[in-house]
Amino acid sequence: MKIAVAGTGYVGLVAGVCFAEKGYHVTCVDIEEKKVEMMRQGISPIYEEGLEELMQKNNALGRLHYTTDYVKAYRDADVIFIGVGTPEMPDGSANLSYIAEVSRQIAETVEKDCLVVVKSTVPVGTNDKVEQFIRDFLVHDVKVEVASNPEFLAQGTAVYDTLHAARIIIGTESKEAEALLQKLYAPFELPIVSVKRRSAEMIKYACNDFLALKISYMNDIANLCELVGADITDVAKGMSYDERIGARFLNAGIGFGGSCFPKDTKALKFLAKEHGYSLKTVEACVEVNSAQKTRLFEKAKERMISFAGLKTAVLGLTFKSGTDDLREAPSIDNLKLLLAAGADVYAYDPKGTERAKQLFPVGKIEKGSMHYVDSVEEALEGAHICFVFTEWQEIKGIAPEKFKEYMHTPLVYDGRNLYAPVQMKDADVEYYSIGR
Ligand code: UDX
Repeated sequence: MKIAVAGTGYVGLVAGVCFAEKGYHVTCVDIEEKKVEMMRQGISPIYEEGLEELMQKNNALGRLHYTTDYVKAYRDADVIFIGVGTPEMPDGSANLSYIAEVSRQIAETVEKDCLVVVKSTVPVGTNDKVEQFIRDFLVHDVKVEVASNPEFLAQGTAVYDTLHAARIIIGTESKEAEALLQKLYAPFELPIVSVKRRSAEMIKYACNDFLALKISYMNDIANLCELVGADITDVAKGMSYDERIGARFLNAGIGFGGSCFPKDTKALKFLAKEHGYSLKTVEACVEVNSAQKTRLFEKAKERMISFAGLKTAVLGLTFKSGTDDLREAPSIDNLKLLLAAGADVYAYDPKGTERAKQLFPVGKIEKGSMHYVDSVEEALEGAHICFVFTEWQEIKGIAPEKFKEYMHTPLVYDGRNLYAPVQMKDADVEYYSIGR
């Protein structure tokens, strides 16, 4: 079976590589020649554990190819996966222009019957339109069907999540399409849930928004814990033993970021509104998250007269550990506020620095200034205040005494609840975290 994959971001590239790993002949298509050349050499454009190893292995075995020439890739493919981005529009709706572009290219190039499988997260009903769109633009007399196959991988564990997914969701409108996808996924030996196309599209949003809601709920409870003198870490621990609640996604902090939760909560809110329905739970989740992102800064603002000229250590920039991605990272909102308030920021992140430099270049920004350093120690050296935004292992592992030893004033605002308040107190560090 010949597979083509459109888009080589987290979704497309990881899917392509994993299908090759299962023995299929896969061609990944991207518009950027430079990126394609890199991938041919076994270099991944994204940082994902285990991805480059699998790319190199399958490149060498001749099962995995990369091209900018979509005609060659789609022409005789049996299955074409679409894994291009659906970024957020200013009004919160999903931007479907990349999906439309690929659909048009597919329609104009396929020379044999094929199944188009949409992995990108798209508003419910989009795949009906994708199918119609492709059929409208078909050049050759062939049969094209569209299936939905949402992706549940999390960044940082993308390869593992794909090869060991909790389930595969397939949404189809015909027995043939369902059978083909069942066959395609058989080598993965994972549970397959087969539903109608619109239900599959909805499952993806329902899952992401449920998890986002869970986090916002914990953040809301954490804020209340602060007011009533309870400790959110203990509260979460107590909750986690109830299997109906589950132990994961109970960590309160500075709010969720990344390429999915922020976008998918807004998109579902938008979709509901379009249908004349107000999705109040998700609306509340978005609102709580937006306020949560800058809560730490607000706390610090209450404590300081001014940030002007303060050496401000920032530990962690990415939206979570294990990735170099900064999309919707709470650090961005906080850095903007800190720089506008005149802080001299010294940031450390083991993987996110290069991407951060594109957003906040080194030098003067607004009233403050931006610097990047290569170690926790350099960031802390002589600092007046420290913010923790990401739970990287090397940041988690900092001994409380180190803050005291290196900082000018050992004052720490921790958005990830990484340290024990008692230990920080014993080490003479003034410490603020979330919900305790
Ligand atoms: C998420 C979903 O987990 C994945 O299934 C989907 O396909 C894409 O979106 P991802 O965005 O990569 O994956 O990261 P995830 O680990 O889910 O974290 C999302 C955000 O929530 C991060 O900012 C993280 O720090 C935050 N989070 C997560 C919390 O604040 N508390 C938690 O308990 C868990």
